[in-house]
Amino acid sequence: MNDYYENPGLVLPENFPHGEVKWKSPSNIALVKYWGKYGPQLPKNASLSMCLSESFTETSIHYKLSKGEPQRDFFFEGKANDAFAKRIWKFIDSLDSIYPYLGQLDLQIFTQNSFPHSAGIASSASAMGALALCLVDMERSFFSSPKKDEDFVHKASYVARLGSGSASRSVYGGYAIWGASKSVQENTDNKFAVPFSGKIAPAFENLSDAILMVDNGQKEVSSSLGHSLMEGHPYADDRLAQADRNMNDLSKAMVSGDKESFIKVVEAEALSLHALMMASDPWFILMKPETLKILQLVKKYRAQTGHFLCFTLDAGPNVHLLYGKENELEVIKFIEKDLKPLCHHHQIIYDTMGSGPEKLK
Ligand code: DP6
Repeated sequence: MNDYYENPGLVLPENFPHGEVKWKSPSNIALVKYWGKYGPQLPKNASLSMCLSESFTETSIHYKLSKGEPQRDFFFEGKANDAFAKRIWKFIDSLDSIYPYLGQLDLQIFTQNSFPHSAGIASSASAMGALALCLVDMERSFFSSPKKDEDFVHKASYVARLGSGSASRSVYGGYAIWGASKSVQENTDNKFAVPFSGKIAPAFENLSDAILMVDNGQKEVSSSLGHSLMEGHPYADDRLAQADRNMNDLSKAMVSGDKESFIKVVEAEALSLHALMMASDPWFILMKPETLKILQLVKKYRAQTGHFLCFTLDAGPNVHLLYGKENELEVIKFIEKDLKPLCHHHQIIYDTMGSGPEKLK
């Protein structure tokens, strides 16, 4: 059955012009984690994320109607990169039912990240977000659709999702929700993400995210393997119920300004993600000794000062520390003095909540 977003039969006219499109898309950090998927990259549970500002990907696509066999070139940070190119072209080919005309075009893709590769920042989220925005923008300039900006961004989220689930949330600024959940806003869908619709309390309007680089090696567990660990997982049902409760509690806390509940949910999500991995078959322990030390020190600092500061983790050892504007200076002092020495090469990326993607000239 064709999906609403599919366009079979679309072809480009012979007098089709050449052109270029360029987008910047941010990475995002999940507060309620997407963990487990089914079908065409659909999430088993709803997730909620915050978009970042300094961690982003810029991608441009140069296109022209092909004269014969389509030519394709891919450059990552100015250089050819076979591993990334393979993934990108495989993804582009997989979009045949949405963008059949891509096979008629010579394509050159240039992409670069603002952050080091393998920095433990979700590069697939920003990369697939930027690529999807370029593809939907091309569609708009070729066929004048999607017309409405809301449809444009929903479609970009839909296409980004097919590339990487978490990328569905990278086409929005602020907070985004992906996936239907019993307890939160009505317009959520498993096929694309939407912006968080509630009025965010001032406490959470401008959070900072200090990314503590405990280790900058290659990811030990690929996303696909990670998600597959939830198949037949002994705690799978409980996890789905927990994610639903956490979506409910977190979205309420974000509107009411309840910092205690916010911290409780965000940290429980991070630790549950790692607990699920430890209880998987095969099991994985992705935290490093320094990760654990940092988490303990954060807990102790919060108990001693009462300052708003909490951690979250992705499927890796690096720690994201979230904090607000109040007590910012003290929190940074604590990070610099007590946590920085635990980071690989003392590396920390200071990021903040961002306002979302941008079309570039
Ligand atoms: C732990 O989006 O990287 O970061 O859909 O297979 O590309 P694929 O997975 P991916 O998974 C992200 C998992 C997570 C949590 C999250 O971002 O929600």
